[in-house]
Amino acid sequence: MKAQRTARPAADPIICCCNGVALSQIHRAMRNGARTLADLFDVTFAGCGPCGGNCQPELCRILATADRVASRRSAG
Ligand code: FES
Repeated sequence: MKAQRTARPAADPIICCCNGVALSQIHRAMRNGARTLADLFDVTFAGCGPCGGNCQPELCRILATADRVASRRSAG
């Protein structure tokens, strides 16, 4: 019997290991209005797990990158 692959695509890495939150879930939350760590936690539970929040720097980086992109678009 051939093993079936059910692994997550490399393009959708897990960002918060504690709560199993993938990058696509973070992006979806942001498309729906999440702008802060607290917003992301409210929607996905990312950033507040038993590790104490080791993923928070990455979450901040993702939020900051989205802010820069939005600023460039609004600047024209
Ligand atoms: S990895 Fe996100 S809270 Fe632990």
